[in-house]
Amino acid sequence: MAAGLGTRMKSNRAKVLHELAGRPLISHVVRTAQSLHPQTILVVVGHQADEVEQAVLAEVGELASFAIQAQQRGTGDAVESARSQLANSDSLLLVLSGDVPLIKAETLRNLIEHHRATGAACTILAVRLENPTGYGRVVRDERGNFQRIVEQKDATEEERQVREINSGIYCFEAADLFAALGRVEPKNQQGEYYLTDVAEIILHSGGRVEVVTHNDARELSGVNTRAELAEFENLLRRNAIRRLMLEGGVTFIDPSHAYVSPDAQIGRDTIIHPDVTIEGTSVIGERCVIRSGARITNSRLGDEVVVKDHSIIVDSEIAANCSVGPFAHLRMNAVLEEKATVGNFVEVKKSRLKRGTKAMHLSYLGDATIGERTNIGAGTVTCNYDGIRKHETVIEDDVKIGSDTMLVAPVRVGSRSVTGAGSVVTKDVPPDSLVAGVPAEVKKKLK
Ligand code: UD1
Ligand code: CA
Repeated sequence: MAAGLGTRMKSNRAKVLHELAGRPLISHVVRTAQSLHPQTILVVVGHQADEVEQAVLAEVGELASFAIQAQQRGTGDAVESARSQLANSDSLLLVLSGDVPLIKAETLRNLIEHHRATGAACTILAVRLENPTGYGRVVRDERGNFQRIVEQKDATEEERQVREINSGIYCFEAADLFAALGRVEPKNQQGEYYLTDVAEIILHSGGRVEVVTHNDARELSGVNTRAELAEFENLLRRNAIRRLMLEGGVTFIDPSHAYVSPDAQIGRDTIIHPDVTIEGTSVIGERCVIRSGARITNSRLGDEVVVKDHSIIVDSEIAANCSVGPFAHLRMNAVLEEKATVGNFVEVKKSRLKRGTKAMHLSYLGDATIGERTNIGAGTVTCNYDGIRKHETVIEDDVKIGSDTMLVAPVRVGSRSVTGAGSVVTKDVPPDSLVAGVPAEVKKKLK
């Protein structure tokens, strides 16, 4: 179920699109569902349906299909909107909430196993909470048998004392579910069709209802507010960092001020300084040093890379023994081959710096391929954009680009050539030449 807006988020964005650990809430849930190898994952969408569908497809692709719930009239109505796709199946249906992102596959497997073993028509996953406020309560009779679920808003004072809550996750026999669902009425405080009423209806029509009481409250908690979202974020972050320290042998100078995606990998003996952010599926090698304020997103770093303070590395690749920063910006598939160096205030966009090449200060390198052992002087700019199109710059091996050289692309500088300080290079430079001036002319052959 992922059709609701999530009023308590106070957002114009559907709740399930809010991100946890860099991925929409719904992506977490469908990823877990996928790991159970279901026949299909049917997602009920409504608010911002297109975007929710995109997020689901990006995570599980073909396995997903969708049911549209045009108006959000409650969780019962959400499942009802999938009737035509599911009602005729004799299969087992696991109902998950798009806003319960930490649910583990193992817990779901246990739920399904219990459901099958007991021959239940409906099995509810429940948990006891210190503070059950806001949740539906599991009401039992004096012998402890399940009676019904009552929502916070509909509960009596006595029922509100119950600490055992409905997690919003259930296992159903599809046929029994849809038979009961047809009888749900919106007779409650919120005027909604409650999926939770199905349990009582099944019970009264002679079906078996089971409750599996789980012991990890956090895992079953839903995200309802931004405060809860921040708590979850914090929890995932702490867990990821703990795992990296204890199992991965990574040093964090201050683990409470590091931000690492659970999908990132970091090699042994790498040192992460405070205020570093590592996002997405970044992979960082061994014995690297990542200094304060760096952000690394969906990038790969080899071993012994040094990233100095306040550098941003997005969608890029850095081979072993390179040094980057401080205040460098690598983006759009920037590639540094081994032992390349990019210094302060250097931006590298969609460019490759080959082995041992250096750009130490204040440069823009865009759409460029730069050979081995080349030195890019301070203030060099690849003028790659003519206002309409982007053009490429090629600089070959062992070149010395003088300070403040403008390379007006498309342009090529041949191996072992040198450009004088302040050159504006508008034409290709042959190998072994010294060029200088505005526009730059060949002043002498070096060989
Ligand atoms: C629901 C349960 C409650 C349980 C809690 C656990 C009901 C009536 N109540 O309450 O017993 O303790 O979850 O988290 O089911 N959704 C739709 N369409 C709708 C309404 C909701 O798709 O018309 C989706 C939401 O997007 C969300 C999920 O269903 O992903 C749960 O909805 P929400 O409104 O958060 O239910 P709760 O009030 O938390
Ligand atoms: Ca909820």
